[in-house]
Amino acid sequence: MRVLIVGSGGREHALAKAIAKSALHPVLYGIGVNAGMSALAEMQDIRLSDHQAILSYAWDKQIDFAVIGPDQCLVDGLVDLLEAGGIHCFGPTKRASRVEGSKAWAKAFMQRHHIPTPACRVFTGIDEAKEYGATCPLPIVIKADGLALGKGVVIAEDRDTVFSTLTSMMVDHIHGMSGDTIVMEQFVTGPEVSLLVLCDGEHVLPLASAMDHKRAWDGDTGPNTGGMGVVAPNPYYTQDVADDCMQHIVLPTIRGLKEEGSAFIGCLFFGLMLTPEGPVVIEYNCRFGDPEAEAVLALLDADVLDLLVSAREGMLDTKSVKFHPGYAVSVTLASKGYPIASEVGKTIRIGHLPPGSSVLHAAVKRSSDGTLTSTGGRVLHVVGRAETLTEARNLAYEAVKQVAFEGMHYRTDIGCRALEGEESDGSSGAVVS
Ligand code: GLY
Repeated sequence: MRVLIVGSGGREHALAKAIAKSALHPVLYGIGVNAGMSALAEMQDIRLSDHQAILSYAWDKQIDFAVIGPDQCLVDGLVDLLEAGGIHCFGPTKRASRVEGSKAWAKAFMQRHHIPTPACRVFTGIDEAKEYGATCPLPIVIKADGLALGKGVVIAEDRDTVFSTLTSMMVDHIHGMSGDTIVMEQFVTGPEVSLLVLCDGEHVLPLASAMDHKRAWDGDTGPNTGGMGVVAPNPYYTQDVADDCMQHIVLPTIRGLKEEGSAFIGCLFFGLMLTPEGPVVIEYNCRFGDPEAEAVLALLDADVLDLLVSAREGMLDTKSVKFHPGYAVSVTLASKGYPIASEVGKTIRIGHLPPGSSVLHAAVKRSSDGTLTSTGGRVLHVVGRAETLTEARNLAYEAVKQVAFEGMHYRTDIGCRALEGEESDGSSGAVVS
């Protein structure tokens, strides 16, 4: 089977590694630049926004099946174009991708289907937004409606921040048209859980839960990033919580999307918060989370390509998944200056990795002389898998010591919060992996 992976970050390298092991004997192709993927796939550097060129490449290589990684491709309708061109895809249509492409649409969808989510108001005009912002309860969560490279959410703790955020999104257009509409959402608290669920439009297959670490620095401080590390499974996501989420969140979402003519085929990401009142949906993403996929796929003991093809064929009800026992911990190694202004072009050295650990390339190219060079903010993800969370964490950090590039920075506390979860709430029930 000739398989095309669209995208070239850590998530896509993780997908390529998992798919390469399939009993369907895939021949892999990839779109983008990624030194790690190059070892597994023939890579072609096509701009992700050039959908017609991706289709032509898929025809040229006689691709049987395409797996689409990045949100923007999905929201812009790459699946619709490829499917119309006869290429079967794992990924939602443009219509189904609205779960991520429009926060306002997603909130209205959840309200229509009684899916628990924090209360919100939606604004398209700055005057009305400011009028509400003058009296709304604080803190308030302000979200740009559209995609914003993971930077479109601000938790405003005071009125000055409310007004400056509204102005920068709606008047200065810092996120382009994505901020023309904004969502102002009730601030809620509790442990956050990322849940990746394979969907075939009707049936679901949940993968391991995960805990992302979004802030740049230790102790959950510093600016928001695309994700500085992940623990899977998430110890707060016990069997009881999973059952509750399946009944009140996952299944109503899939049913609602199907009922509304937006049947979701792909990986639906549920960004959950376990509030004192119960789990709520903070956001949906229409694709594998990044860096969640790097840890979750490391735990999966299954033929991943077979699962993705089954999702496209509406056959997930005939499949089940097994997970390796224990935990996976992924630590992101970032460039100096990330997430504000990353220094790139640094030579990367990777030494001998301890058994049970691996390195996924997120922004790495290989020069003609074989040197590995950084090309972006999040450069590598170092993953450790072991029987216990402590062992997985120690393994990941042992492996980190084998990697070096100038200016490399990473968090040293990935997994610490999860260890607290194991000792408190998470210990009261079996963790779902
Ligand atoms: N880690 C969250 C995301 O993929 O957007």
